[in-house]
Amino acid sequence: MCGITGFTGKVPALPILLKGLESLEYRGYDSAGVTLVTEDALFTQKRKGRLADLESSMDVPSFMQTTGIGHTRWATHGVPSQLNSHPHTNEKETISIVHNGIIENYQSIKEKLIALGYVFQSDTDSEVIVHLLDHYYQGDMMEAIQKTVQQLNGSYAICVVTTDHPDEVYVAKDSSPMVIGHSENGSYCASDIPAILEYTKDVVILEDGQMAKLTPNGVAVFDFAGNALETKVTHIPYDMNAAQKGGYTTFMEKEIYEQPVAIKETMRGIIDHGQIHLPQLDAVDMQKIQYVHFVACGTAYHACLYAQALVQKWLGRIVTCVAASEFRYGNYPVNENTLCVFVTQSGETADTLAALKMSKEKGAQCIAVTNVLGSSISRYADQTLYTSAGPEIAVASTKAFTTQLVLLTLMVFDLAKKEGREIPDGDAILKDLQRMPEIVKEMLEKAPLMDQYAYFLDNQYDAYFIGRQMDYVGVVEGALKLKEISYVHADAYLAGELKHGSIALIEKDTVVVALATEPSVAAKTISNIEETVARGANVILITTQQQDAPGFKNVIRIPDIHPVLATIPVTVLLQLFAYYAAVHKGRDVDKPRNLAKSVTVE
Ligand code: M6R
Repeated sequence: MCGITGFTGKVPALPILLKGLESLEYRGYDSAGVTLVTEDALFTQKRKGRLADLESSMDVPSFMQTTGIGHTRWATHGVPSQLNSHPHTNEKETISIVHNGIIENYQSIKEKLIALGYVFQSDTDSEVIVHLLDHYYQGDMMEAIQKTVQQLNGSYAICVVTTDHPDEVYVAKDSSPMVIGHSENGSYCASDIPAILEYTKDVVILEDGQMAKLTPNGVAVFDFAGNALETKVTHIPYDMNAAQKGGYTTFMEKEIYEQPVAIKETMRGIIDHGQIHLPQLDAVDMQKIQYVHFVACGTAYHACLYAQALVQKWLGRIVTCVAASEFRYGNYPVNENTLCVFVTQSGETADTLAALKMSKEKGAQCIAVTNVLGSSISRYADQTLYTSAGPEIAVASTKAFTTQLVLLTLMVFDLAKKEGREIPDGDAILKDLQRMPEIVKEMLEKAPLMDQYAYFLDNQYDAYFIGRQMDYVGVVEGALKLKEISYVHADAYLAGELKHGSIALIEKDTVVVALATEPSVAAKTISNIEETVARGANVILITTQQQDAPGFKNVIRIPDIHPVLATIPVTVLLQLFAYYAAVHKGRDVDKPRNLAKSVTVE
């Protein structure tokens, strides 16, 4: 989720590049850089840290070049550093590129390029692109790009400049966003609309498999075979503030809708012909492991509850799931026969880091699951698995959670393979996991319905979420989401536990959100729900296509999917429910009271 800007025109490029990057800053980044072009030379300046530091390291008014590219990096391959920052240039310093996305097959390309004599400066996947361009370039950059993209597997939006054509910028994209536009001053490109909105509201949103050539006089779009295409212009009706949120009202809403892509990106490169391989787990010796602990806070802790359930089902190991704030103070078996998995979106949560440090001191094998490359957790853990959710800005965690569920499922699959265990229905589960982006899209279409149900909370102070087995993960996460952004008191219960006390709270119109997606216990959950209906509860039931639910008014059925994966679509519905409840109550959805995105104190 890096930020890209590019410009070629009649005015100095640098202020435009920097301003564009500034408008993308809200998404987070770890380094920034620019390349400016003349026919004599490229001028590249890049550094780790803030855009303001880059800017203050340059005497901006003195740079008169009218063509250039810029980048803010959100690290995926290679830690945040000066060398890993973009742009990347070829050895002769005649070609410079910026890239957003992940090149899955970069290792094999890199090996081939090294064999051809290319020398790499960085640990990034992106650098292969500039050397491939150098290799193929014979005077026609569009042709070199066509040949280069044929070699790339993965996702990319790339932006290229060369001293040979100092008034041209070239772009190409597949599975990562790129927009282009033109005004009387010149032509612009960016990874996101806010970066060019100040100059034009008429943009071309490039589609996968398209490339474009920008000149001061206009833009031309082509397919990857070099055929000229008609440019489809989209008028952007909203302002900069709305554009940063992709046209959504809040970052949380945007991030909820980003889940299909985030899930797809997280799975990218891990499943190959029905086989899972996570090289980070290669060093884990399952024969040695007696205990598995999943440790995290908040929503990430709920992802751990899910992983714990999978290990219980599929692996022959004693497994616990512990809140990081408790882990250090409980007497859990932690030694060289222990595998500890620490899950954290930010990678900076103090309790989780402290639990990891303690586990390392005791000799446990420590794996981190995080969304932020180069975060503290990744520096302390033995190995790190990354969700590719992209920056999560809203305090309420949404896409980080669902991508954690996906990655943890793949992780448990890989550990089972190491144990030599066959996962029951393993092939079917993997197939459904690969369908997940589509399933989540279907859930997002139910937004108007969840909006309507959220009105049930208008005059209510409490809500109760109930479910059994793996549905318990959905209920604890659904209740947390509702509490933190709408301030409606919400409790999560095991459905079978209700009758042991909490049912005393149920009265006329009490909102009960019930999950019954696990076929083996769904009928029992339905009986528990009926007990609440008998006391006047206003029930919203989320269940499967097949489940009998006679007499219930508000029923949402999730698509057919293996029950162990149902938590993912269910969570999306509950995120929408919490979101609309908060909106109806006029809450500050992205910045709920008393909360911080990253809790760096114990
Ligand atoms: O960055 P982390 O995943 O370690 O954060 C853990 C919790 O603070 C976080 O999940 C929190 O519970 C969210 N605000 C929930 O939406």
